[in-house]
Amino acid sequence: MRVLVVTGAGISAESGIPTFRGTGGYWRNLDPTKLATQSAFDSDPELVWQWYRERRDMIRRAVPNDAHRAVARLSAGADEFFLLTQNVDDLHVRADWDNYRIPDDHLARIHGDIFVTKCERGDFSRMETDEDRDGVPRCPRCGGRMRPGVVWFGEGLDPREVARVDNFVRARPCSVVIVVATTIAFDYIVHWTRLAAGRRGRLIEINPDDRFLEPLGGEWIKEPAAPALPRVVNELVSRALS
Ligand code: OAD
Repeated sequence: MRVLVVTGAGISAESGIPTFRGTGGYWRNLDPTKLATQSAFDSDPELVWQWYRERRDMIRRAVPNDAHRAVARLSAGADEFFLLTQNVDDLHVRADWDNYRIPDDHLARIHGDIFVTKCERGDFSRMETDEDRDGVPRCPRCGGRMRPGVVWFGEGLDPREVARVDNFVRARPCSVVIVVATTIAFDYIVHWTRLAAGRRGRLIEINPDDRFLEPLGGEWIKEPAAPALPRVVNELVSRALS
């Protein structure tokens, strides 16, 4: 069993983290897809930092749910496994199945890590494990503005993360590709999904509201991830063992 799992914001919805789009996506009447941009940061960096700090706080308090744990279980049970997540939270990293966690080299966080604070100008970055200060942080090396270590709309992806996903999906087709809780708003996600499934891979989409993979011929499980994904994983793992 060679598996690619692709996840989006909805997998953390049941852990209390708001999604970007759809119900509950707005923050103080502001559209997150407009806040996560360089232009929003240039016009009001304090506001953008407030939004990210509130999200950091929420994520620190959140715990992984059954869907995150199911991904960890699949990672343990598959012959070859890779998780491509668009989420900047750390719930996949913290989720375990019987004390097994997804190894770092089987996981790409393609939109970055919300707990990283990085200098806008240079290479300096740090992890914010505890709650950080107010205002716009300044780089201790150059004094320039610091920003969250996430990919904003219109920005390029980290080439090292891209290479890791490419290496996995191009090596050989997957027997199963599961796409969970995402609006699949980016062409590269569709591209990797298509490439990974190849002609014969089983393609499963889990989303209670939206269906995006119909053109690729995928199955649609119209349910929230926390009940649906453990069931799908249980079926796959049991079949692989039998
Ligand atoms: P979105 O907020 O666009 O979409 C969340 C999806 O999750 C929607 O299709 C919901 O129907 C679905 N959903 C909600 N609750 C769910 C549940 N309990 N179980 C399963 N599905 C559920 O989030 P993403 O698709 O992740 O990028 O957005 C992709 C990217 O756009 C994000 O990484 C971020 C964002 O703006 C950047 O910041 C570059």
